[in-house]
Amino acid sequence: MEHEYSRYSEGLIPPRTERIMEMEQYARDHRVPIMQLEGMEALLQILRVQRPARILEIGTAIGYSAIRMAEALPGTEVVTIEREPAMQEKAEENIGRSSAEGRIRLVRGDALELGEGLPEGPFDALFIDAAKGQYRRFFDLYEPLLSGRGVIYCDNMFMHGLAAEDPTDIPRKNRTMIRKLKAFTEWLMAHPGYDSALLPVGDGLMISTKKESTEEGAVL
Ligand SMILES: C[S@@+](CC[C@H](N)C(=O)[O-])C[C@H]1O[C@@H](n2cnc3c(N)ncnc32)[C@H](O)[C@@H]1O
Repeated sequence: MEHEYSRYSEGLIPPRTERIMEMEQYARDHRVPIMQLEGMEALLQILRVQRPARILEIGTAIGYSAIRMAEALPGTEVVTIEREPAMQEKAEENIGRSSAEGRIRLVRGDALELGEGLPEGPFDALFIDAAKGQYRRFFDLYEPLLSGRGVIYCDNMFMHGLAAEDPTDIPRKNRTMIRKLKAFTEWLMAHPGYDSALLPVGDGLMISTKKESTEEGAVL
């Protein structure tokens, strides 16, 4: 979903470091679906306000968002999970060249099948950016690792606009995935333990805070 105002606000974003811009170019050239710039910048700004000590990311790809989060938040540890070997290799290479190398740990494997290899919590932020039809399963598995004031961030909630389309206008191959993503969105919006908002930034960024955390005095 590309709007005039998105182009305007993206045009205001200052250039990133050479390495980060190289990764953005690599993603364009190789069709790697990293976070859209506007959504990435919005997420970083919210994280700067939240100041999580530990972030768990599901879906590393080439390490772009993991590196951006770690570089934006000096002192924050980022654990990130990726299942595709080619992506893991590229991510390791990029992480090794980043200024936040020692604070990013790549977990190799399918986030839904880590078993004993599940990262140890607690995490203050959970960022879900992997298979779009599996968001509910990621939530069920990883939400218990959140700290009391943990925040959940989910990207691609619009799925490039498809989530807002009439189901009959959605290409058949995407229908099940979109149905599951929408069911998850509705379920999380109505979750009694969470306050959620779907921000129309980038490809749709959902932010969910535990209700108990707002009662205690939220970190946001
Ligand atoms: C949208 S990309 C992640 C982009 C990255 N967060 C960024 O913005 O730089 C999604 C990634 O999730 C990975 N993925 C999908 N399902 C997964 C799963 N069950 N476990 C681990 N990784 C998964 C894919 O291989 C892909 O590289």
